[in-house]
Amino acid sequence: MNYKEQLRQDCQQVEDWLRNCFRGRDPHADLYDAMQYSLLAGGKRLRPVLLLETCRMCGGEADKVLPFACAIEMLHTYSLIHDDLPAMDNDDLRRGRPTNHKVYGEATAILAGDALLTAAFETMLEQGGDLPPERVLAAAACLGRAAGARGMVGGQALDMAGEGHALSLSDVEELQRLKTGALIAAAVEMGCILAGGSADDRAAVVRYAQKLGLAFQIRDDMLDVAGDEQTLGKPIGSDAENEKTTFVTLKGLERCQELVEELTGEAQQALSPFGEAAGFLCWLAGELVGRSN
Ligand code: IPE
Ligand code: IPE
Ligand code: MG
Ligand code: MG
Ligand code: MG
Repeated sequence: MNYKEQLRQDCQQVEDWLRNCFRGRDPHADLYDAMQYSLLAGGKRLRPVLLLETCRMCGGEADKVLPFACAIEMLHTYSLIHDDLPAMDNDDLRRGRPTNHKVYGEATAILAGDALLTAAFETMLEQGGDLPPERVLAAAACLGRAAGARGMVGGQALDMAGEGHALSLSDVEELQRLKTGALIAAAVEMGCILAGGSADDRAAVVRYAQKLGLAFQIRDDMLDVAGDEQTLGKPIGSDAENEKTTFVTLKGLERCQELVEELTGEAQQALSPFGEAAGFLCWLAGELVGRSN
């Protein structure tokens, strides 16, 4: 199986699992509709794929950690729903659809986000299957750390506080490390933890994810300026409208693309201890360099 096929298969497994996970709950309740509306709207499924493939690379069984992969996607989807709210980026389009609050109203969108966040932890703690309990706990703790005030939410707070201010490069780096990098790093770290990887393995995969996460957010900032709304599935020009300092405002598009390439090379380099087993994750990093959505 080639890497493209493997990616397709991972994404399909994630889609199937997510499609079924709220089955049996009240299908007519607005809250579940709102949760599923955003969760099942597509998306690249990058974080779950990173978790599954890191687990595989570290010698674990990807099938067994699927609930964890889906948990991080639930948490990521919550972050997007809240990110789009009028009080935050105030955007109308996400994953090619009107944003959650546009369809369900702000109160339900906030609650759908809250419910996806909590469902992520419920999923991990209830569906660890026959994995060693200490790995389940370590993985859940890792996601908790990465998602909260010391991670994604902290980064979002810096992002909001920075609106309308001229930030320095190191400010923007720190903000991006938290708002985007933390969850991407958690995806690989959880994959490694669940596989029973060594401390050295963990350090190496986190190094990969830190470089990849920064490249990913720089590319995101570039697409906000130079992307195509239809392909991207979210608005162009949102950052400028909200007066955000980004890598693009600091460095320009051309230098940003060079940085994305440099960081991707460094990410791939970080996986050299894994040899051939790192093939997929190196390929995936390369695929993201020129992404258009
Ligand atoms: C968007 O993430 C938010 C950022 C952290 C840049 P993705 O680009 O992974 O969004 P989806 O999941 O594919 O919709
Ligand atoms: C948000 O960054 C990252 C999150 C934690 C959701 P952005 O605000 O740039 O993400 P997009 O561009 O709206 O997807
Ligand atoms: Mg934002
Ligand atoms: Mg946004
Ligand atoms: Mg953006």
